[in-house]
Parts: sequence; C-alpha cells; structure tokens
Amino acid sequence: MYLVENVANYNPIASVYNSFAKERELEILVLENLILQNLSPGAHILDIGCANGRTVSQLNTRGYQTTGIDISEELLHIAQTNSPESKFILGDIRELELPAIYDAVISIDVFCHLLKLEELTNVFQKVYATLNNGGIFAFTTPLADEIWNTTSPEQGSDIEWFNKIDVRDNYVYLERYYSHNQEEKLRKIKFTGFKLINAVWQRSDSDMLVKDYSISEIKSALLNAGFREIEQYDSKDFGDDSPVIFVCRKLSV
Ligand SMILES: C[S@@+](CC[C@H](N)C(=O)[O-])C[C@H]1O[C@@H](n2cnc3c(N)ncnc32)[C@H](O)[C@@H]1O
Repeated sequence: MYLVENVANYNPIASVYNSFAKERELEILVLENLILQNLSPGAHILDIGCANGRTVSQLNTRGYQTTGIDISEELLHIAQTNSPESKFILGDIRELELPAIYDAVISIDVFCHLLKLEELTNVFQKVYATLNNGGIFAFTTPLADEIWNTTSPEQGSDIEWFNKIDVRDNYVYLERYYSHNQEEKLRKIKFTGFKLINAVWQRSDSDMLVKDYSISEIKSALLNAGFREIEQYDSKDFGDDSPVIFVCRKLSV
C-alpha cells in the first residue's frame, strides 16, 4: 500500500520519448567527473528509472556492467534494443529489493514521481541497501528551489507554465507544466507526442503529477537513509545544462 497511489505512466509516450531522450555526451562527462573516476573498471552500476536505457547504454560502451530498472514496460522493451548488453528489471523503485552488489546507483529525473517525502526517504533507504560498502549514489531531480520561484503561477490558475518542446521532421515532443498544489510543490505535467509513421502523424498523451523537493528536504532524506559525504554539484560547471546533481556514499563499516 503506497502513501500515494500515483504511478507514472510513460507507456503511451514511450516511442516518442525514445526519439526525444537520446544519449548525451555532456551528461556522461558529468558522470565521468563525479563518479566514474572513483569506480574500478567493469564496476556494476544500477540506473533506477532507466527509461529507454540511454544512460546504461553509454556506460556499457565504457566497459561498466549495468542494470536498469523501470516501471514502464514499453520503455524497457525499447531499452533492451538500445542497450542489449544491459540487464533490465521491470519494477517499481518503491519496492526495490535487490542484493547489495552495486558499486554505484544513478538516477536521472525520477524522484519527482514520488509524491511524498516519506516515499523518497524509503526509496533512498532501499538504494542504500543495494549498494556495496563505499558505494556511490548520484542523481538529479527537479528542484523546488529552482522551479517554484516568484514567477510560478498560482495554484489552480490553470496557466501553462513552462514548456519543453522538441520539433523534428519525424516527431514532436511536448511537456507542459501546470501548478497543481503550490504549497506541496506539486506540478501537473502533460506530455504530448506526435510521430510520423507511414506518412501519418500519430498522437499520444500522458498526464502525471510530479513533486519538486527542496535541496534541504533531499539532504535530510539522504541523511536519514544513512548516506554520508553528501555533496551537490552544478552540472553547468562541467559544461552541461542539466540541474544540480547530488552525490553521496554508503560508508564502509
Ligand atoms: C523523466 S523519466 C527519466 C528517465 C531517464 N532516467 C532519463 O534520463 O531519460 C522518468 C522515468 O522514471 C520511471 N519511473 C517513474 N516512477 C517510477 C517508479 N515508481 N518505479 C520505477 N520507475 C519509475 C518512468 O517510467 C520513466 O522512465
């Protein structure tokens, strides 16, 4: 029984998401600087919320052993094609029960799908349990400190907030944001995709609620889960335009 019965459903937009979310050299450069250089060659990395496998695929090319977990069956089918050498697990990260065999766990923009701080802390505890002693945990998630500023629309105003849009010859990918609950920092995201298939444009949609946590909420949840050496970095320092990345460790006992 979950605190919030909210399941992110990327299945309807899996195909267009795969066109949009490609391998990114800059992102791997950030990972190289912050975690990979501290791992042994061939180390085992778990990517939680791996989606179409774009990150595990890049890590595989660099010789790491990789496992990806995601709740979207459609995205995992695509991931298997994108990264045939990786192992994939279909599952909910809130129920993560894996052996402590991973040298690093990474996660890119997934924790916003956990709508309660208790759920976030619980998932951090599960991540902690899957890591080897000395293991590294690195992740990004949209931050309330950055997203909810004075220009955010009022709750229920139904104003479209800011958009992500990617228009190409064979697909269009759109993310629209709406304020759902300003106090709780809950946003509604409306995903819309168009794909050109056999000369016909096909539309797909999926709406979800997401929560933006503050830096202090994230750090205290990490501490409560047992993590230490908690650092936050600005990926812009490494030439990327992604948000803040958190890096911490399960200390050897
Ligand atoms: C914004 S996407 C990010 C995907 C990927 N990390 C990337 O960088 O492209 C969020 C992903 O988290 C997955 N997800 C959301 N909630 C989940 C849960 N409770 N358990 C497992 N995966 C989940 C979704 O299916 C989706 O693939």
